[in-house]
Amino acid sequence: MSELEKLPYSYNSLEPFIDEETMKIHHDKHHQAYFDKFMNAIQGTEFEGKDVMDVLQNLNKVPESVRTAVKNNGGGHYHHSFFWKILQKDTSFSGPVADAITRKWGTLDAFKEEFKTIALRVFGSGWTWLVVNDKNELEIVNTSNQDSPISVGKKPILAIDVWEHAYYLKYQNKRADYITAFFNIINWNAVNELYQSTQ
Ligand SMILES: [Fe+2]
Repeated sequence: MSELEKLPYSYNSLEPFIDEETMKIHHDKHHQAYFDKFMNAIQGTEFEGKDVMDVLQNLNKVPESVRTAVKNNGGGHYHHSFFWKILQKDTSFSGPVADAITRKWGTLDAFKEEFKTIALRVFGSGWTWLVVNDKNELEIVNTSNQDSPISVGKKPILAIDVWEHAYYLKYQNKRADYITAFFNIINWNAVNELYQSTQ
């Protein structure tokens, strides 16, 4: 059975915006649990060994008896892997995605403001995404729990995990402060790569 990938950087490398303890628990406990349960759920189905993206894009073909488990845990696995990749301190807002964001929102600050407003609307647990939609436009969308934008044909290029486990140790109930901090650790290089892969 394959193993969960390690974080692509050290647990403390996003300090002070996301603390080391949160990263440890988030990756080693939460992500690991999604990964294990996902592997377990697809075991013995035709999707065993397939890439999690393929699975989430073809949820309707997953046997009904395990579909909910695959959606929740496959989503949890894929989303966290995605999230780790788009986090890094000190990258610059530049390149094609900066042009596209500026075209749509006018300024980076205006984009941040709308992203934050929408992220604050997630009721309970979920994620906020910047996606390229089927009209090839940038769009900010929320998803609940571990429902995936890729299961409904959207192409994510940026995400924030707004489950409480992502921020509660450091920010407690102050989700707005966590979102503000998140803007300091967007890996714009990775977001550019993801954006370019959709074009
Ligand atoms: Fe999470």
